[in-house]
Amino acid sequence: MGGWRAIATRQAMLAINNIEVVYDRVILVLKGVSIDVREGAITTLLGANGAGKTTTLKAISGVLRGERGEVTKGTIQLGEHRIDGMRAHDVTRLGLVQVFEGRRVFEHLTTEENLIAGGHVQKEGAVVRQGIDLVYSYFPRLKERRHQQSGYLSGGEQQMLAIGRALMSKPKVVLLDEPSLGLAPMLVEEIFGIVDKLVRQERLSVLLVEQNATMALGVADHGYVMENGRIVLEGPADKLRDNSDIKEFYLGLNEGGTRKSYRDTKHYKRRKRWLS
Ligand SMILES: Nc1ncnc2c1ncn2[C@@H]1O[C@H](COP(=O)(O)OP(=O)(O)O)[C@@H](O)[C@H]1O
Ligand SMILES: [Mg+2]
Repeated sequence: MGGWRAIATRQAMLAINNIEVVYDRVILVLKGVSIDVREGAITTLLGANGAGKTTTLKAISGVLRGERGEVTKGTIQLGEHRIDGMRAHDVTRLGLVQVFEGRRVFEHLTTEENLIAGGHVQKEGAVVRQGIDLVYSYFPRLKERRHQQSGYLSGGEQQMLAIGRALMSKPKVVLLDEPSLGLAPMLVEEIFGIVDKLVRQERLSVLLVEQNATMALGVADHGYVMENGRIVLEGPADKLRDNSDIKEFYLGLNEGGTRKSYRDTKHYKRRKRWLS
């Protein structure tokens, strides 16, 4: 385990060190969060609704500032750059981009126009074209739909477009906020499969926020569990998949492998094993 940690530290592309986030100067939402996002790997951040996952992503990408939120403690390091407190477009220029929850595409624009809009940080037309071709090579469905108004795409296609648009800024790190939300499991598998390919082939680093632990741990290399603005558990994804607390609470399975109701798992809050 010691050896693994040493490797992890050396390869962290993005390091969040003990950050605190406050909204409206008084509402403390993140209470000392540390996360390492490794290069060329998928790191997942799991947690129930309201845990602080989106706030974590916004703190990293710099959009928090526009929402009366502030990083009041700790640091965020992207490669050699310290990015906490930086403006979102400066962070994007350094190679980090956030794909927001709810797949916000420009509905009145076509698929391809959305991609071009995502490539606005690139100056040259040829570079934008290359970006579009790269996106189409990973998401052939978007190529098929390139002249279609994006408001009429299916939910899954809009999610692909939101990711594709983010890729247009040629990022090194992509933050994904609940891409599985409201999508059928097969579509989620398709999208996660493509993200996985992107990570391996383009050496992207991904921080994947999910409430859907089963899906996320299926594709991730490493995972963190957040509760009430704190990380309560972390480990390699396969270890987390085997963890009985994760199984019970997030995957809804008991020791025998049968489904449990949320009510049965409520007692987990009183258990201290989380913090061990
Ligand atoms: N702009 C905001 N102002 C005040 N409180 C907020 C704001 N955004 C989120 N919160 C609060 O911060 C907590 C964490 O929210 P969020 O980061 O969205 O959690 P998650 O993404 O895990 O569901 C919640 O209690 C939420 O009400
Ligand atoms: Mg959220």
